[in-house]
Amino acid sequence: MSREFRQIGVVGLGVQGAGVAEVFARAGLAVVGVEVDNDGVGRGRGLVEHSTERAVAGGKLTEDERTELLGRISYTTDIADVSECDIVIEAVTEQLELKAAVFAELDRVTRPETILASNTSSLSVTEIGVHTGRPERVVGTHFFNPAPVLKLVEVVRTVVTEPDVITDVTALIERVGKTALVIGDRAGFISNSLLFSYLNHAVMMFEQRYATREDLDAAMRYGCGYPMGPLALLDLIGLDIASEILDTMYKQSRDRMHAPAPLLKQMITAGLLGRKSGRGFYTYE
Ligand code: CAA
Repeated sequence: MSREFRQIGVVGLGVQGAGVAEVFARAGLAVVGVEVDNDGVGRGRGLVEHSTERAVAGGKLTEDERTELLGRISYTTDIADVSECDIVIEAVTEQLELKAAVFAELDRVTRPETILASNTSSLSVTEIGVHTGRPERVVGTHFFNPAPVLKLVEVVRTVVTEPDVITDVTALIERVGKTALVIGDRAGFISNSLLFSYLNHAVMMFEQRYATREDLDAAMRYGCGYPMGPLALLDLIGLDIASEILDTMYKQSRDRMHAPAPLLKQMITAGLLGRKSGRGFYTYE
């Protein structure tokens, strides 16, 4: 018999976590969003409010639906408040030690049958799962930014994930209107492995002054129909996150296409992280 999912926990309410919380609340599920402090809660709440405002402006949601959606998310700074959740999705910073600590804590505060999922984009779900007493109920659920808009979720199974956990998580993802792809645990999974070679290559072309940022972006938008050019997309993702993803993939694959372009590191050191810092390849208000 398949599991029932009534309440969803989301740990970490940055851009991704807030987007994931919105996706589940929009589908009618109760969500408990966890942050480390009140500032984090305020930021997370603000992200959901802003995103749903855009959804209303774009005709994707009515004002009443938005009010109901917002009412389904409760916020807390106490991780133990996810104790009644049927699945908890972790979306904290991409650092193995931090994710491992969060999973160990989730293992302690949730019921043994609760599924623990990571939104990691490049770290090993297997390595994260071994920090719990239930690695067979640990999966990856990798959403894409912006989560409320993009359809794909990569559902990552490890060598020990139980098949019924994958079946139930896939059904949950489809229930909230997303497309699930079940894949094995390899750095970058499918999408990031392909996407980040391309983004990195664009940085190298820019670094070599082969083309301007505008021309690089225009080529891919107008020539290939991509919604954004590579440098604008890097600004959206965040250069620090992109660099971490490339580093992790390079360590595992040793594929030169994944060796972060030196310019990426220099920009990060100079504080140019993309949209979130106001400046990356482009400047934002
Ligand atoms: N819920 C539902 N729909 C929403 C919404 C919400 N909260 N907020 C906005 N929308 C809708 C809008 O109504 C609009 O719909 P229509 O196109 O039907 O009018 C659509 O989403 C786009 O929104 P906007 O008009 O506000 O913005 P835009 O047209 O400039 O598109 C974009 C912005 C969605 C980011 C688009 O440019 C895009 O898809 N870019 C590519 C993003 C991408 O590749 N992301 C992957 C990054 S890699 C990653 O995430 C993996 C990782 O691990 C880092």
